Amino acid sequence: MAYNNILFEVKDAVAYITINRPKQLNALNKETIDELNQAFTNVEEDGAIRVVILTGSEEKAFVAGADIKEFASFSVEEGKLLSAEGHQKLFNLVENLSKPVIAGINGFALGGGLELAMASHIRVASENAKMGLPEVSLGVIPGYGGTQRLAQLVGKGKAFEMITTASMIDANDAYKWGLVNHVVKAEELIPVCEKIASKIVKNSPKAISSAIIAVNAQFREGIDGFVTEITEFGKCFGTEDFKEGTTAFMEKRKPVFSGK
Ligand code: CAA
Repeated sequence: MAYNNILFEVKDAVAYITINRPKQLNALNKETIDELNQAFTNVEEDGAIRVVILTGSEEKAFVAGADIKEFASFSVEEGKLLSAEGHQKLFNLVENLSKPVIAGINGFALGGGLELAMASHIRVASENAKMGLPEVSLGVIPGYGGTQRLAQLVGKGKAFEMITTASMIDANDAYKWGLVNHVVKAEELIPVCEKIASKIVKNSPKAISSAIIAVNAQFREGIDGFVTEITEFGKCFGTEDFKEGTTAFMEKRKPVFSGK
């Protein structure tokens, strides 16, 4: 599929997805969300891809939020639909992808942009990154999962401060708050993401997908994370990856995982 708003490239089992509307600071309009949905669906279905690096084009913004110009005149029903479709098409898709998504936050990650980074599994920020949920300054609230995922990542107190003040924090504060895992120089952003990706691709894809299900289960209402962990743990014993990983350990060699 040809994309108008994103770049999609695969190199050595790593998919690079770059949101590419730099003149609008990579804001998420409907078409961009649809294209991201298509790209992440392709990633899920392509057995050769093991990990995703998600970033924004140019140095100014990762994503400056949902496209305000697009929703400014929406009704209550349209607003609700915008949020519900976004959750389903993109943010939940990313969070529940069977392959890890590493967000390389290269500049402003605001509103829906920070929400997209928070739906990703791992976050690395460049020193110039600025993060915030400024929605209440527009008279709306975070609508792409931010009220839930920010509190999960940084705790309720800091989430309330960030959401109610609509203020941005810099990369170092984001690191101190636990919102990002690493802060690096801008030119190191993609290389550091690639270094993390290179460690991930050495491991069992089957076990990684089970681990993602088990970690996410803690945060899903009505689901017992410990029970999910037991189920996913048990499933691993039926995979070729498990046989290969344990056999390779006993044979004192590196495993070669098939992802089956
Ligand atoms: N939606 C649409 N367009 C956006 C945008 C957004 N979220 N953010 C930036 N742009 C556009 C600007 O309108 C401008 O376009 P024009 O040149 O056509 O006017 C262009 O990108 C460059 O932006 P600025 O001129 O504003 O750049 P700046 O350097 O002066 O400021 C900024 C940068 C502080 C990030 C500022 O652009 C800004 O505050 N953006 C909006 C951030 C925001 O409020 N995000 C939350 C959106 S709501 C949301 O995400 C809801 C949800 O949860 C579902």
